[in-house]
Amino acid sequence: MKALASILLLAVTAHAADLVEHARAHPDGKAAFSFDASAWGDDEATRHLPIGVFDSGIGGLTVLEALLTLDAFHNETLQPGADGTPDFAQERFIYFGDQANMPYGNYSAANRTDYLRELIVKDAIFLLGRRFWPAAGTGPQFTKPPVKAIVIACNTATAYGLEDIRRSVAAWKIPVIVVGVVEAGARGVLESKTTGGIGVLATVGTCASGVYPRKITQTLGLAGQSVPVIAQQGSATLAGAIEGDAAFPESVAAYAIKEARALAEAYRDSKPTQPLQTIVLGCTHYPLAKDEIDTAFASLRHEPAFRDLIAEKRIFVNPAEATAKELFRELAKAKLRLKPDERCSIEHGQFYLSVPRIEQAGIQLAADGTLDKDYKYSRSPGRFEFEDTKNIPLTPALIPANSAKLVRERLPAVWQSLSR
Ligand code: DGL
Repeated sequence: MKALASILLLAVTAHAADLVEHARAHPDGKAAFSFDASAWGDDEATRHLPIGVFDSGIGGLTVLEALLTLDAFHNETLQPGADGTPDFAQERFIYFGDQANMPYGNYSAANRTDYLRELIVKDAIFLLGRRFWPAAGTGPQFTKPPVKAIVIACNTATAYGLEDIRRSVAAWKIPVIVVGVVEAGARGVLESKTTGGIGVLATVGTCASGVYPRKITQTLGLAGQSVPVIAQQGSATLAGAIEGDAAFPESVAAYAIKEARALAEAYRDSKPTQPLQTIVLGCTHYPLAKDEIDTAFASLRHEPAFRDLIAEKRIFVNPAEATAKELFRELAKAKLRLKPDERCSIEHGQFYLSVPRIEQAGIQLAADGTLDKDYKYSRSPGRFEFEDTKNIPLTPALIPANSAKLVRERLPAVWQSLSR
């Protein structure tokens, strides 16, 4: 057994392996980037724990909305089909957005995927542990509940960190399920029964990793289907614009048309024999701009160069819903779903967000109080005593006004839970 754990550890990328050892060396979970290893005492205790969901920021709330509202199964029989009761009605969720370190999608362009990988395993450790920081105060607290499952709601984090997290969990020998948004998205493509070509819209980092074309090809291939042309377009602007970030002054529609055009051109360059039909919304934020993106493709069809290249009716794949279904199936398989008469160990869901920890010596901030951009993208892995960000409870007041409006209007179940 020990040998198996060592082999698993070797399979984890070097920086994640250091973090695995660090957490192992601090089993009481009091140190930064460690967790209380005794939290999963028996099946009964594990089943009553909440489910963790993380993203690079608040975009993953789109995935949480899908988790809170999914009704695709009969809760008693586990058979497919709606029964009028949300599938996770008894479960509770702990959401974490690593806002201080985002955008994750831009680390690859800065050649810092090593640091990104470490950040992603740290996110998982945060969800596994009890340690968090109060919004004000000088020391961490230890009352956050551990989790029985981790949902990686971020496409970029899934692309770079899913395997590291799975192998770390195996090396720690804890019974925690790990679900990532990309595999679910690929299954969403399969279920869309597309006959045309496939386009992936995602961050620059997700596209650079090639994870979507790889997983879609595998998923369609395993199902015995031929794989059509898959083109992708990585955007460095659309997620920020959707959040209403002032660094992106044009409208979401204006950025959407640029990205749609770039994707259509990439698709054309792949010499397809059929029109582009299925668009994968491969970034947490994009489902919120689905209408603008579809309008962009519709307007491109008015240009003779694109008319026959883009299908008249597009199919949009939102990996969030597919992720929720995947989590349901995995929890049921592992017998970790709460039974109808059982309640989670916490009454309400909880939300956390990372912010710069300004008291940490050596940290560099921009004028608006966020981490300085050059500083952010020049950090190296391996400093587990150094906490330049801290994870604090997220309240609606901490969400920038534009994003808060978006959540309030478009993610009502999340907003209700957040404003409790
Ligand atoms: N959450 C990220 C994703 O889904 C988008 C934002 C970011 O780059 O951090 O890829």
